[in-house]
This record gives sequence, structure tokens and C-alpha cells, in this order.
Amino acid sequence: MTDQPIGVFDSGIGGMTVVKELFDTVPGESIVYFGDTARLPYGTKSVETVRRYAREDTELLLAHDVKMIVVACNTVSATALDEVERMARGIPVVGMIGPCAAEAVKTTKNGKIGIIGTEATIASGAYEAAIREESERAAKPCTTWSAACPLFVPLAEEGWTDHLATELIAEEYLKGLREKGIDTLILGCTHYPVLSEVIQRTMGTRVTLVNSGAAAAKLVAEILEREHEGEEGASPAPLPQEGRVQHKVLVSDVPRKFQTIGERFLGRKLPDAKHVVWKEAWTVER
Ligand code: DGL
Repeated sequence: MTDQPIGVFDSGIGGMTVVKELFDTVPGESIVYFGDTARLPYGTKSVETVRRYAREDTELLLAHDVKMIVVACNTVSATALDEVERMARGIPVVGMIGPCAAEAVKTTKNGKIGIIGTEATIASGAYEAAIREESERAAKPCTTWSAACPLFVPLAEEGWTDHLATELIAEEYLKGLREKGIDTLILGCTHYPVLSEVIQRTMGTRVTLVNSGAAAAKLVAEILEREHEGEEGASPAPLPQEGRVQHKVLVSDVPRKFQTIGERFLGRKLPDAKHVVWKEAWTVER
């Protein structure tokens, strides 16, 4: 596994919430990040379109010789993880849904879990299915309620973390879930942790927010640990060497804005975001 970078992608700034977790859990690893800002949002698009974007995003990361792909987008994780895995040809792929569902089942005390995400993620039912599986495995009965919160994505992209408009929209989206008496709320879109203060205030302090990126970053650390230890009998894979950490940020549009909001969110400098362009050929559907 060595010095090769970990590839991470999302439609935009959301995946930075996962990168923030990766900086904590695997600080010695280089990251190549792709934010598909030209085609954002993904969550309002059809499954076919998201699956095509997922293939193209994966191709870009594979061209950067990544050793693992983190799908830092719940929408892609819910609708196209199999496409990414197929293209990755054996390199590990970490999605958001499984680790986050497991964390939510572990966290809840009253078995009442809320899920918020994009329209595509909520429509897919992927979280409900993963929670059902986890709660059966853990013999811990759980009930779920969900709500799509599409406007949270542009608010996060705008950096409106503490704005009256965000408060009002959060109240409108979340009051139904609050009334159900949930004690755990899955932030099932990687953009949402950018707004976690407003979401927490709206839900109240008795509700625990579960961040999909944090749960996935733990899994990344476990996979790397396993790889470093090596297969039984094989010699362990070398650890990345200190001082060799080099991150890259790629975006498909307006790199400057991405940089400003990304750095504000991470609270640290990012390497200059590079503009990449997908050269596609249009075909007319018959
Ligand atoms: N951050 C992504 C997610 O986790 C996508 C948001 C969007 O582009 O709609 O679903």
C-alpha cells in the first residue's frame, strides 16, 4: 500500500468533511481529492446520471494511481457503489452508508433513528436497508424516519453556516423528525456536517448527530492497519514514509471559491485547487 495516495471524491465541498476526519484518523496518508463542482448537486439527479458521474470520477482518481477510493458522497454510495467497486478492480472502496448505519445503531438508546440526506439518497432506501441489517445483527430493534433536505447542499457550498435563512430552512425540514422523538440523527450527506451547529440547535441537545464521514474514516484506518500488518504469512506492506505526505485538490469548476470555503471549513491551508475538465462527446438519444 505504501506511499500511493487515497482517492476521495464528492460532488463538491461535502467530501471535505470526510477529509477532515481522515486528517485525524490517518494523518500520514496523502490524499487526492476531487470535487465535481461543475456538475453539483448530484442529489437531485437521476440514478443513471449519478452512476455515470461516479464512473467518470473514479476514472479520474484511478489515473492518479490511488491505492483506495473513499466515496465521500452518500448519493453515490447509495446508488452507484457497485459501479465504483467494479471499476476499482480490487483496490478497496469505502462508501458512507454501511459504516454510518452501524454507528447509528450502536449510538441509539431508544431505537428511534432519523435519516437526512439528498433526494436521491432518501429515495434509494439504502440507509433503511443497512440499518435493518445492522439492527438484526446487533439484536437491537430500531425504527427509522427520513427526510430529504436538498437545500442544505447549496447552503453548505455558500458557507452559510450561521445564517437566518439556514435556521428557517432547518426548522422546516427537521421539525417532523424532532416530533418523532428520535435520539439519533444520521447526517446522510457529507455536506451536512458543515451545517451541524444549526442542525444540532434545531434538533436539541438530546439528539446525537452521526456523521457519515467520521464512521467511514474509522473504517479506512482499519483497512490500512490490516494492510500494514500484511496477510498471514506474507511480509507486511511498508508504511508511508514521514515527510512524503502530499495532498492534491482537483475540481471541475471555480477552484478559487472551493479553496476559500474548503480552507475555512478545515481551518487549515489546502494545496492550490487545480481545475480539471471532463472531455465528453455529446450523443443525441434516439
Ligand atoms: N455530498 C453529497 C452527498 O453526500 C452530494 C450532495 C449533492 O451533490 O447533492 O450526498
